[in-house]
Amino acid sequence: MTDNSTAPLSKVAPSTVHKPARLRDIPGNSGLPILGHTLKVIKNPVALGKKMLAKYGPVYRTNAFFRDSVHLYGVEANEFLLLDKDKNFSSEMGWWPYLGRLFPRGLMLLDFDEHKAHRRIMATAFKTTPMKGYLERLNDAMPERIKAWGEKGSFEFYPAIKTLSLDMATTVFLGLEPGEESEKVNKALTNMVAASVGIIRIPLPGTRMGKGVKSRKYLVQYLDTQIAERRVKTGSDIFTQLCQAEAEDGTKFTNQEIIDHMIFLWMAAHDTITSSVTSLVYQLARNTDWQQKLRTEITELGLNDGRLPYKLLNKLELTEFAFKEALRLNPPVPMMPRKTVREVAFGGYILPKNTIVNISPISIHRSEDIWDNPQDFNPLRFSAEGGAKERHRFAWIPFGGGAHMCVGLHFAYMQTKVIMTHLLPHFEITVPEGYKAKFQILPLIKPIDGLPITLKAL
Ligand code: HEM
Repeated sequence: MTDNSTAPLSKVAPSTVHKPARLRDIPGNSGLPILGHTLKVIKNPVALGKKMLAKYGPVYRTNAFFRDSVHLYGVEANEFLLLDKDKNFSSEMGWWPYLGRLFPRGLMLLDFDEHKAHRRIMATAFKTTPMKGYLERLNDAMPERIKAWGEKGSFEFYPAIKTLSLDMATTVFLGLEPGEESEKVNKALTNMVAASVGIIRIPLPGTRMGKGVKSRKYLVQYLDTQIAERRVKTGSDIFTQLCQAEAEDGTKFTNQEIIDHMIFLWMAAHDTITSSVTSLVYQLARNTDWQQKLRTEITELGLNDGRLPYKLLNKLELTEFAFKEALRLNPPVPMMPRKTVREVAFGGYILPKNTIVNISPISIHRSEDIWDNPQDFNPLRFSAEGGAKERHRFAWIPFGGGAHMCVGLHFAYMQTKVIMTHLLPHFEITVPEGYKAKFQILPLIKPIDGLPITLKAL
């Protein structure tokens, strides 16, 4: 079948439509012998996606990193794959090649009923009361770190926020005070996060993956020794909350489940917050009118001690719009892979069972079909007047959607608002006149030069 209608056809039994589906019937090409499109994907996946879309339409096939995959483009495609009403797509099998070795049985690596059961328990660690506890920890930790940035004056923002996010991982996630223990955990986490985005996926000695696998062993042991105590003591950190998390029917996580979820949560939170706050700071440095608007919004809260209280989070509306716009331009997770668990009909084609299927937030976020002047930073797109309500709900998907939608998205908003609250009233952020950052897109978006900024005390 070659019609390009995007109406989902999955209710039609594939066997009545088609003989056993073949990948080669999907339009597209496999690129170079052996390497496929790998080099183009590393260089600029957005440009490759645009070319393939123009040539083959919204359902097309490529080959990269020695794997064939199918790409679906469009808001309907995003909805179809993310809502996955017919349970066609495995998140576990889609993400496994990237995350399976280091983060097995993390929430994104579970599917369907089992995933639902785990998510119910985990969700209790992200309800209002625990979130208030995390906010206090963020407020405690932030001033000292931001003061240290101010003392440096000029520095590369990306490595600085990466270090800050790691510090948050030990204080907010684990409840550790700075010291030898937190440094050891920090080092192990750094190794694991570096391995998760490394190109070599086999744990050879001396490689990032080798170090990552060793660090996972250390963290597994470390967490395991703490669980019994954390199950009973009070604590406002994520680890303690996860040890005590309980679904409505009383189900709790086993020790091994707590370990797997904790390690996954660290990874899921770390590079995504690092990447998105970097994009926001970059945009604020270039759009100084917006920087001032956010500063005024924060100052008008009249915070005596500089701490951001939970009840005022929602008052930072423009800050939230600006963060959303930074996430639109540079979604930290540029691709979301799944694997079909049966033949799946979509857009006039049948995707064979066991096919890797990708959607791309970055392509839809930068699409002229959906956004006016998509290259411009315009946070008001997310206001009611800017058309936020009329837009298709799968046009903006930095946190995914459906069953696997990011469980930490409110945490991400909260941490970003705390950083801005402690940063903007005290410092002006600048980049050199005419500066334009170049971003590496995969595996996560980051500025190639680290984003050199200057903080000037106000
Ligand atoms: C700006 C920051 C963040 C972005 C852009 C982001 C993005 C995403 C995306 C796109 C997914 C879904 C992937 C898919 O469906 O294939 C996801 C899932 C997830 N995220 Fe986030 N994330 C962020 C921050 C966080 C934080 C702070 C945490 C934890 C505190 C977190 C924990 C998770 C977890 C556990 C999942 C798996 C959910 C599930 O499978 O049910 N994320 N995130």
